[in-house]
Amino acid sequence: MRFNFFVILLTICLGSMIGKTQEPFKAEIDSILNLMTLEEKIGQLTLYTSGWDVTGPVLRENYLDDLRQGKVGNLFNAHTAAYNHNLQKIAVEETRLGIPLLFGYDVIHGYKTIFPISLAESASWDMDAIERSARIAAIEAAAGGLHWTFAPMVDIARDPRWGRVMEGAGEDTYLGSCIAKARVKGFQGSDLASNNTILACAKHFAAYGAAQAGRDYHTVDISENTLRDIYLPPFKAALDAGVATFMTSFNEYNGMPATGSKFLLQDVLRDDWKFDGFVVTDYTSINEMIPHGVAANLKHAANLAIQAGVDMDMQGAAYADYLEELVNENSVSISQIEGAVRQILKAKYQLGLFDDPYRYGDTLLEKNLILSNGHLDAARDMAKKSIVLLKNDNQTLPLKTSLRKIALIGPLANNQDNLLGAWAASGRASDCVSLLSGIQEVLNESQILFHPGCRINGEETDFSEAVSIASQADAIIVALGEERHMSGEAASRSSIGLPGSQLELVKTLSALDKPIIVVLMNGRPLAIPWLDQRVDAILETWFLGNMAGPAITDVLFGKYNPSGKLPITFPRNEGQIPIYYNMKNTGRPFNATDNYTSKYLDVANEPLYPFGFGLSYTSFRIENINIFDSVLTIYDDLVLTADLKNNGTVSGEEVVQLYITDKVGSLTRPVRELKGFKKIFLEPGQSEQIRFEIPIRSLGFHNAKMDYVVEEGAFDIHLGNSSTNTVTKSIIVQ
Ligand code: NOJ
Repeated sequence: MRFNFFVILLTICLGSMIGKTQEPFKAEIDSILNLMTLEEKIGQLTLYTSGWDVTGPVLRENYLDDLRQGKVGNLFNAHTAAYNHNLQKIAVEETRLGIPLLFGYDVIHGYKTIFPISLAESASWDMDAIERSARIAAIEAAAGGLHWTFAPMVDIARDPRWGRVMEGAGEDTYLGSCIAKARVKGFQGSDLASNNTILACAKHFAAYGAAQAGRDYHTVDISENTLRDIYLPPFKAALDAGVATFMTSFNEYNGMPATGSKFLLQDVLRDDWKFDGFVVTDYTSINEMIPHGVAANLKHAANLAIQAGVDMDMQGAAYADYLEELVNENSVSISQIEGAVRQILKAKYQLGLFDDPYRYGDTLLEKNLILSNGHLDAARDMAKKSIVLLKNDNQTLPLKTSLRKIALIGPLANNQDNLLGAWAASGRASDCVSLLSGIQEVLNESQILFHPGCRINGEETDFSEAVSIASQADAIIVALGEERHMSGEAASRSSIGLPGSQLELVKTLSALDKPIIVVLMNGRPLAIPWLDQRVDAILETWFLGNMAGPAITDVLFGKYNPSGKLPITFPRNEGQIPIYYNMKNTGRPFNATDNYTSKYLDVANEPLYPFGFGLSYTSFRIENINIFDSVLTIYDDLVLTADLKNNGTVSGEEVVQLYITDKVGSLTRPVRELKGFKKIFLEPGQSEQIRFEIPIRSLGFHNAKMDYVVEEGAFDIHLGNSSTNTVTKSIIVQ
């Protein structure tokens, strides 16, 4: 027998008459649960890939049969209004209860209008722009029939070898937490019931970014203090912003894979944080508990996952194949299953899918909104703001459009595909504007000379054509970097220099003795000491998405003054990794006059470019730093004002950063920690007072008992425009 919406509605009305409760949609969910078989309940806990996009191993080719039988309640990697409408129709019209499907997808930095990769956006330190980017991604994804994005990825990443650094907010907990909030707000908006907001998903819970040696999926072994102080706060920030779902991570924590970790999923997430949404696995991470060595077989793994608190099984079919058996032998209770089903049905209610299962795909909106001028303008704005000026000797940049000839050389100069970066959802290379096309908009054909020079990852040795072309120019722009799939999932690198023969190309060009401007395109920090020493200017442009070409052109020719700051440290070489600004001091901090101090024999301790660093075409001065009250309690706010002045000749934005040092702790503390920042726009000569109000309770850490504490004593307060260029004051907390 097939139930339809009328039956469901009737039971809902009856349920509502019996009495309203506090829990959202409780009556409605109770009514549906009463109608569901165990198999259908397990179906709601099951998520399969549609086969359109492949983002991991495909285990279930026959998902349509499962769908018709009510054995799968959720699909991912299916998108566009028309495609998803047809799948939804099967769920609504051909299954016994007609429960609508939930459609998820990796909408990480845009759906079809592709914004800069997440790491690049983070370099903007501009929360409004980041929120707008996520908002637009949600609007487009919703028009394309999606309800749920597997984003934001809020993993702290301190190892640039790890390919997934491109997907997060970089190395810092505070910045990462602010960005996590902005992205959740952007995706989910203020009302999930609106048909242009989608569920967000904080991933990968937890500590995935701490993979040893930067190798993806590798073992994690960190202290609980580090977990709680460094890796967890961005997840908590996402939760505080109302994130609807969490995704487990592939790694283990304390010997237990996250997907089977009661500590992470129950103690921290549900008990301490009171998370009230649903938890999905990352792909086949239930199945992976077998090779991890904590489950003897898939049934065992399914049991570990459900006991730990995983609600939905992505792609692994472990729940589909074994939960019923586990219930029948009393290893798993019906109420455990129903608890998970409730969370998933609640999300479907919140989205309004029971009112109208088709409200999230709209072919007309798809046509009108996707890649609209407004969205592309926002992508260009975000792209400009994401660029970091790493070097600019003798004011080589900005270039004048009146230059006689410019040579544009390099494998990424006339390339569209790589601009998308990894995780580009349904973005298309043909919608990306290359750097060459961007420059062609501002210079005449006769001013531009172009040659690719070499491939990104080739072994060329003959650069004579590129050299002969470059020799005719007044300045040489060289676009270098990585292919887009050299970062992202399963894309770790052990050497993070420029791949292939690109360095040889630029070395050869440098013999021409002309100004050389390197435009980097990459998904991670690169080790580029030679470039730092020898070229005139370096622009870090990451992968900027559809509007990369025009955005880079805006910066190269001074239409936009670069304002980005690094959200992650750039090492001098791989041997320095892990390297991050908020390290510990050690008992033997480096001292040049004492051999037995912490150092390398062959490289400096300092990175090539520190966290928070980025140059501008103008110069800023921070002066008149004033701390209102320097003796404070944990109930107070640290109130600090300072004047920021634009001393230069062009307008621009500066990111003023506030760091603290807890001078003496019951446990060792980082040398400094970011606790606040402000991004300010100033005209030349203009000055503005900036004001920070930092709650003293945010200066704490987890002590040996794992209690969050702010300890009494002295704190240094550092104000500046990078993690290293600061002025220091101090306060006492008592
Ligand atoms: C595996 C990735 O780790 C995760 O981030 C992603 O959301 C899923 N695959 C789905 O594509």
